Amino acid sequence: MRPELRDLAVRTAVEQGLLSGGPPVVGLLDVAGIRASAAALRRAFAAVTTAPVLHAFAVKAAPLVPVLALLRSEGIGAEAASPGELALARAAGIEPARTVLDSPAKTEDELREALALGVAVNADNPQELALLDALPAAAASASPLGLRVNPQLGGGSIGALSTATATSKFGFALADPGARERVVRAFLDRPRLTRLHVHSGSQGMALTRMAEGVRAVYELAEEINAAAGRRRVDTVDIGGGLPVDFTGDDHTPTYEEYARLMKKHVPGLFDGRYGLVTEFGRSLIAKHGLLLARVEYAKTAGGRPIAVTHAGVQVATRTVYDPVSWPLRVFAYDAAGRPRTGPPVAQDIAGPACFAGDLIAERRALPLLERGDVIALPDTGAYCFTSHYGYNSLPRVAVRGFTADGPDRMSFTLVREAQSVELLVAEAGAEHRDALLGT
Ligand SMILES: Cc1ncc(COP(=O)(O)O)c(C=O)c1O
Repeated sequence: MRPELRDLAVRTAVEQGLLSGGPPVVGLLDVAGIRASAAALRRAFAAVTTAPVLHAFAVKAAPLVPVLALLRSEGIGAEAASPGELALARAAGIEPARTVLDSPAKTEDELREALALGVAVNADNPQELALLDALPAAAASASPLGLRVNPQLGGGSIGALSTATATSKFGFALADPGARERVVRAFLDRPRLTRLHVHSGSQGMALTRMAEGVRAVYELAEEINAAAGRRRVDTVDIGGGLPVDFTGDDHTPTYEEYARLMKKHVPGLFDGRYGLVTEFGRSLIAKHGLLLARVEYAKTAGGRPIAVTHAGVQVATRTVYDPVSWPLRVFAYDAAGRPRTGPPVAQDIAGPACFAGDLIAERRALPLLERGDVIALPDTGAYCFTSHYGYNSLPRVAVRGFTADGPDRMSFTLVREAQSVELLVAEAGAEHRDALLGT
């Protein structure tokens, strides 16, 4: 998000009272920016292959129905990894034929539902494959079926997000003794299996490592097709994982760079013989999110200034628990929403939760924040305020989309209401208040 747009969003949000009444914290999404990223993704792949490409947005990155509907209007489908995510995709009107179901722990009921709908299913392991074999619905279903493989090429800089390590919990571990032969056999024995899937990891993976993973599945597809004597694998799902630069406003690397690099490393996959599926999440939406929160109090402890805000672990869970892997930039604004000026002072930006580590940033050099000021956290569109963490019964924050109507005007649309205290109480079992009291 450009700095001018960010400044306008903050000022207008404050003027329109989006930080008044209820907890003074709101997540904003740049509608035009999301559209532009979706268009850039489609363009990048259209430039490298003539084969059909389904871009399936990883719902986990921003599980909000209006966001999925917006992406749908830009030609983007959905990758779901739970029954909830699948339901969100359906609620957004995303067609089953443009939806992919992953997850290493699909229940039989989930599989039945996906098969009944015709949603593509990537089986994660031999037992899931056996379960699919045993489901009568599988034979009649329109669902394309695939296998997720783990090329076991190694991880990236964030262990928790590295899915191509030797012992990752995801997919068929391709380099384990005898595994490759078993995967080839699985395809030869099951004409319904037509896809291979790989997702080597998310943020922190080197692009070249991701390209190696894609090459590994391409080579496997070629081997299966050669052994079958015909085109058994017709589509390769190359997952998501394009990293996002959290240090600045530019979108780097770009989808164009990614698609070109993949084609350079794996030309055969892009010569038109294979359909493709992608599953990008973070790179489509992270940089279009902006979280705003009021500074409730400004204090000092041990000589360190601390701004206590309403943005903490509930909206930036990964940053709070693993600040080294997930640093966020912080911008300071005054109470009227104008950029705060003043000499930089090292200060902590704390959240509202009751543990000492609930910090968005430590010793961050910013103009000294005062009570009533506003902080803005850019790049928070994915896996942040949309993925609420319920610690301390902090409510889910409101989310609004924004559109600039001119250099000085902006309008906001409600995407998700803030969770009311009444709803929070109801969801905490209020209806069953006496359930544990005995009879
Ligand atoms: C199977 C799969 N596909 C896609 C994604 C989306 O990754 P990203 O948001 O990094 O693009 C993930 C992330 O966990 C995933 O596990």
